[in-house]
Amino acid sequence: MDIAIRAYQDEDLGQIAALEEKLFSLPWSRDSLKDSCENGLCWVMETDSQEIIAYLIGVLVLDEFSLYNIAVSKAFQNKGYAFQFLKFLISWLQEKKCEKIFLEVRSQNLAAIRLYQKCGFKPLYLRRHYYKEPVDDAITMTRQI
Ligand SMILES: CC(C)(COP(=O)(O)OP(=O)(O)OC[C@H]1O[C@@H](n2cnc3c(N)ncnc32)[C@H](O)[C@@H]1OP(=O)(O)O)[C@@H](O)C(=O)NCCC(=O)NCCS
Repeated sequence: MDIAIRAYQDEDLGQIAALEEKLFSLPWSRDSLKDSCENGLCWVMETDSQEIIAYLIGVLVLDEFSLYNIAVSKAFQNKGYAFQFLKFLISWLQEKKCEKIFLEVRSQNLAAIRLYQKCGFKPLYLRRHYYKEPVDDAITMTRQI
């Protein structure tokens, strides 16, 4: 099976919203996703049968990129796709002369924290009780490009 990364298109919103619902305890609404995908930056990973298996959303402001979200469909997790997606993002940002990436992650989300560490992100500070359902601290992480 071939998997390709491509930029977001309007017709992807349904599949992204369905993945978001399945993968997060407090999913973004369809409207928030639409707004971020249309006004920020969004890419998807898609199989050759047009199934979206992962998406990545963020925003580039001047030379700083804020990573809002990266998610991989359950059936495709632990196969290196998120790592590959972040490598793609980093090289895309290098071309744009971006200096830094910032992100926030739940302190209990060990899979995501390890992924970000493997990609060279370092913790910057903690925001106590930043998340709800369940209540959790946020770790702000950053990576120099
Ligand atoms: C976090 C997430 C994006 C990782 O995607 P993935 O494609 O499964 O990750 P990869 O296979 O590329 O793994 C890369 C690294 O992440 C870490 N990792 C991924 N899943 C892990 C798990 N279940 N437990 C521990 N470490 C894990 C490992 O360090 C792994 O490298 P390794 O296999 O060499 O040890 C995925 O679990 C997901 O979509 N989770 C739900 C949504 C979410 O929490 N997104 C992050 C929001 S901040």
